[in-house]
Amino acid sequence: MSGAATFYVTTPIYYVNDKPHIGHAYTTLACDVLARFKRLDGFDVKFLTGTDEHGQKVEKSAETAGMAPLALADMNSANFRELARILGCSNDDFIRTTEPRHLAACQALWKALVDKGEIYLGAYEGWYSVRDEAFYAEDELIAGPGGGKQAPTGAPVEWVKEPSYFFRLSAWQDRLLKWYDDNPDCVAPASRRNEVISFVKGGLQDLSVSRTSFKWGIPVPGDEAHIMYVWLDALTNYITAIGYPDATGDFARYWPNSLHMVGKDIVRFHAVFWPAFLMAADLPPPKRVFAHGWWTNEGQKISKSVGNVIDPLSLIETYGLDQVRYFLLREVPFGNDGDFSHRAMMGRMNSELANDYGNLVQRVLSMVGKNCGGQVPEHGLATDEDRDMLDAAHGLLDKLRVAMDRQLYHEALEAIWVVIRAANGYVDRQGPWTLKKTDPPRMGTVLWTLAETIRSLALATQPFMPISSNKILDQLAIPASERDFEWFGADHGLKPGTALPTPQGVFPRFVEEVAG
Ligand code: MSP
Repeated sequence: MSGAATFYVTTPIYYVNDKPHIGHAYTTLACDVLARFKRLDGFDVKFLTGTDEHGQKVEKSAETAGMAPLALADMNSANFRELARILGCSNDDFIRTTEPRHLAACQALWKALVDKGEIYLGAYEGWYSVRDEAFYAEDELIAGPGGGKQAPTGAPVEWVKEPSYFFRLSAWQDRLLKWYDDNPDCVAPASRRNEVISFVKGGLQDLSVSRTSFKWGIPVPGDEAHIMYVWLDALTNYITAIGYPDATGDFARYWPNSLHMVGKDIVRFHAVFWPAFLMAADLPPPKRVFAHGWWTNEGQKISKSVGNVIDPLSLIETYGLDQVRYFLLREVPFGNDGDFSHRAMMGRMNSELANDYGNLVQRVLSMVGKNCGGQVPEHGLATDEDRDMLDAAHGLLDKLRVAMDRQLYHEALEAIWVVIRAANGYVDRQGPWTLKKTDPPRMGTVLWTLAETIRSLALATQPFMPISSNKILDQLAIPASERDFEWFGADHGLKPGTALPTPQGVFPRFVEEVAG
């Protein structure tokens, strides 16, 4: 693998004050699909997820739960680890910010910033939101329901006055603007990029990067009355996991091709503070930050107080893992907000998975099973229509690469479905069931063309729906060693005479239980 191009993809690390919900599952799945896609495409991939365990929010939750912060972190971190497993995630590492490797990386980054003169001691007086773990300027606050002040996110704020170290963020305005300018793809989608640029153009204040009023965090080297601001601590996880402060090895290998996938609410931390910290420590900023949108539940904002939090585990139980993976990445143009509804989920499951894809596979493979002696059929000279079908199937990979490199999952899936719909049209027009009586050799050619199209489709859907795609590839007797994208295309077409197992349905329909 040493010569392969690299790809490093990260999820945000999740706060351990809470149980996993659909928002966490969404980001993690998006990263998993990308990691799988790149691995299949020959890249040397590292996929990182983990938990954010320090800070006042976790300390307070632990207090409320009557637990030590680390005990709460142990418990909830395990839930996130389990979520990744249940989602079928292929993460290569799971980082916890309470690990010794992370303490070492944070303290090294802090020292590097101090050495460069980027951190100074002062005193912070202003607003802080524990729920957001964010400082807010007076003019950012909005009126709350009771007339009091609250954060623009709706979170409560409190007045803080304490000694604090500051990071010279104000000095980085021009260099950040130059970074956005020189790297048009470093923050995506365009709406978020514009939002970030206008925030930075509005002027940057120095950032408070340490607290003294609580204890749960990483001590500032040389001044242990202070603990590091939880966001400085948390963001550093991305380089801890690739060996920082050692700048050779994995850091050198993966960092130049890094992608941070985040929700739109935390884009400022990733696209303003983080690149500034890194540049200030003389390290390169991440290559790309992509901010996705938020889900609502049946049209309503998801919130614990409303009690409409969506549990990813129960979604998987109800609809199936591949179905949930497909839905979340198909329903919404990635980057936009989306609404989860049972109706929409069921609609896509039945019409796109069961009817379009499932039926295609099922009817073609059962015709092959019944009429071709359970073997890949021989094929004769291809007609224009056969060639068009195969070109569409084999041409899919190039389209997927373009879409996936821009994190346009919905476009990748739509490109796949264009081929699925074309294949269903081709079956109907060619009528292999009639050819069986009138022209059996031609039936063989048509069924071979379809089976080869299905092979390409199943290769293409692997990153999105690994279990179902593998079942289809099993039914085509494709060895496990011939499932990466090197095997895409005409040169590796199905071999006539290969014995095939008895076909089985892959995409069940969702049948609504009738009440009463
Ligand atoms: N700990 C920080 C991240 C630190 S990264 C260095 C954090 N954690 S979080 O657990 O609160 O949130 C993690 C992610 O969940 C965020 O990217 C957030 O956007 C996402 N979501 C939370 N609710 C969501 C929805 N309703 N829909 C989609 N994503 C949502 O922030």
